[in-house]
Amino acid sequence: MNDANEEGGGGSAGFKCDPVSRTLPASGIQILHPGEVHVWFAVPEELPRESLREIEGWLSPDEQLRCSRFQQMADRRRNLVGRALIRSVLSSYLQTDPKSLRFVENEFGRPELEPSAAYPRLRFNLSKTSGMVACCVARNHEVGLDIEDLRRSVDVTPLATRFFAPAETRDLLALPEHARRRRFFEYWTLKEAYVKALGAGLTIPLDQFWFRLDPAPVRLALQSPSSDDPADWQFEHITPAEQHLIAVAIRRQGADLPLIVRRWAP
Ligand SMILES: CC(C)(COP(=O)(O)OP(=O)(O)OC[C@H]1O[C@@H](n2cnc3c(N)ncnc32)[C@H](O)[C@@H]1OP(=O)(O)O)[C@@H](O)C(=O)NCCC(=O)NCCS
Repeated sequence: MNDANEEGGGGSAGFKCDPVSRTLPASGIQILHPGEVHVWFAVPEELPRESLREIEGWLSPDEQLRCSRFQQMADRRRNLVGRALIRSVLSSYLQTDPKSLRFVENEFGRPELEPSAAYPRLRFNLSKTSGMVACCVARNHEVGLDIEDLRRSVDVTPLATRFFAPAETRDLLALPEHARRRRFFEYWTLKEAYVKALGAGLTIPLDQFWFRLDPAPVRLALQSPSSDDPADWQFEHITPAEQHLIAVAIRRQGADLPLIVRRWAP
């Protein structure tokens, strides 16, 4: 796979990738400044068997049970690595043991850290696709993240017509055939990142909001302007590998926040 690089930072703030600490172990202590958003990604297939055994021990019995329910080995591994990634990354900021973290879910299934007087409030979101898992973390900002495998087989036109807002579908269909697939995933990841940042998932109708990609930066528009304020949001695309695309949605006041992108290994 390719390394994360500066070219992937499509938005106005772009992202910074520290070449020295690009691959970081779970045990390291990390600092997350209030004005930053950190994005971590991992390639489940690259983890050796002994690492998988170790990280499985970090999961709660409930998380282990959920992983074991997947029939396909690749799905089981992806879900295991996703939960381990979250535990490892959060515990490195909180300077605690990954096993000790406890989660609660909101009414739409979004996991959050159990409120605790011992820890500062961290916001995070996780996404998984074939070949990669990724998460983002921020201190005081709502964040959402979606990752997609660009090789995934999709019927671009019917899916866009069904799920996208008319402005997005028009933009997509005006492109030459060869460019539509990538544009489809640009919209798809942004839409998922936004509904995930709001925490309500599919209860938000996907054609009630849309994105303008050109000229950069990415901008949000809403069918019902009273539902949210587009000016509060920052959206970024990251290409951690040639065949993977990440979108991050950040609710922030004022200027765009810098994104720091790192690859994770236990
Ligand atoms: C969970 C949801 C928000 C995203 O699901 P998904 O795309 O299948 O899965 P992802 O891998 O991106 O994300 C899954 C992770 O998101 C987190 N999550 C679960 N519910 C969530 C919610 N309501 N809000 C934010 N994050 C949520 C969890 O960490 C979950 O992983 P885990 O169960 O291992 O902890 C889904 O309910 C949803 O609403 N998806 C939108 C689907 C869609 O139709 N998109 C079309 C875009 S055009």
